[in-house]
Amino acid sequence: MRARTAVIPAAGLGTRFYPVTKAVPKELLPIYDVPALQLVMDEAIGAGADHIVLVSSRVKTPIEKFVTPDPAVVEKVRASGREDLANRLARIGTDVKVTITYQDNPHGLGHAVGCAREVVGDESFMLLLPDELRSGPELLSALADSVQSRGVSAIELLRVPMDKVSAYGVITHVPGAPADGPFDIVGIVEKPKREDAPSDLIIAGRYVCTADIFDKIDRIKPAPNGELQLTDALELQSADSPITGIISTVTRWDTGTPMGWLEAVIDAALSNGDAAAARALLADRLAR
Ligand code: G1P
Repeated sequence: MRARTAVIPAAGLGTRFYPVTKAVPKELLPIYDVPALQLVMDEAIGAGADHIVLVSSRVKTPIEKFVTPDPAVVEKVRASGREDLANRLARIGTDVKVTITYQDNPHGLGHAVGCAREVVGDESFMLLLPDELRSGPELLSALADSVQSRGVSAIELLRVPMDKVSAYGVITHVPGAPADGPFDIVGIVEKPKREDAPSDLIIAGRYVCTADIFDKIDRIKPAPNGELQLTDALELQSADSPITGIISTVTRWDTGTPMGWLEAVIDAALSNGDAAAARALLADRLAR
């Protein structure tokens, strides 16, 4: 069966965005006029998800408020004549099923995914890291298709300069694959030193995992920083049988830092109905 559930880990404290994230979850920062979380949910829905599982933290109550339908707000907006906006608001939290589960203590990505186990059940599922955005659902969809046909987890890969690899999970693949993949992954190491990195192919933030990843998460030991790394669980899967890596061809924004967020906001403003005004504004500022 094709993955229909999408897990979005959203329990992180967003320390790189302090002081904003003292009160506002980073997943709700606006990308021009839409919260990042909505864009990530739209990507999952576009790839075929009909159930979103948010792994949140009990202190991040605005996330719950955002995905909870609020008919009173919709009616107020509709009464003011803004029909399009009312329809847009009405869709939030109603177009797909949304379940919130909690990761009370942040023990890493592997732990966050493990917190979704009961809700996900015994099926393959999409996993989207929400501090990265994509221009569309095509890559995630390709990962889901791959898992459906091959029966092993599939992850998004990017080729990066070697001086960037140590910020990511880095893969080893069966030799002989075309340079643009797909790849049969036989090993993964989390954040290696540049000189120890097995390749220049890093794991980006989209995955479709088979359900046995939960048993693998149960078997892994915490990394030296105390976190359970999803990478270690994927490595165990790849030892059973190679998992699939697909190089991303969609545009990717890393909104986990203020500058990456600004880039996403500018690009969003330049590609929507306000593009001409945004262009004029930027040209004016750059001419000062
Ligand atoms: C996580 C994963 C890493 C992956 C990265 C993608 O790291 O552990 O393997 O390459 O996401 O963004 P983090 O960014 O949470 O440190």
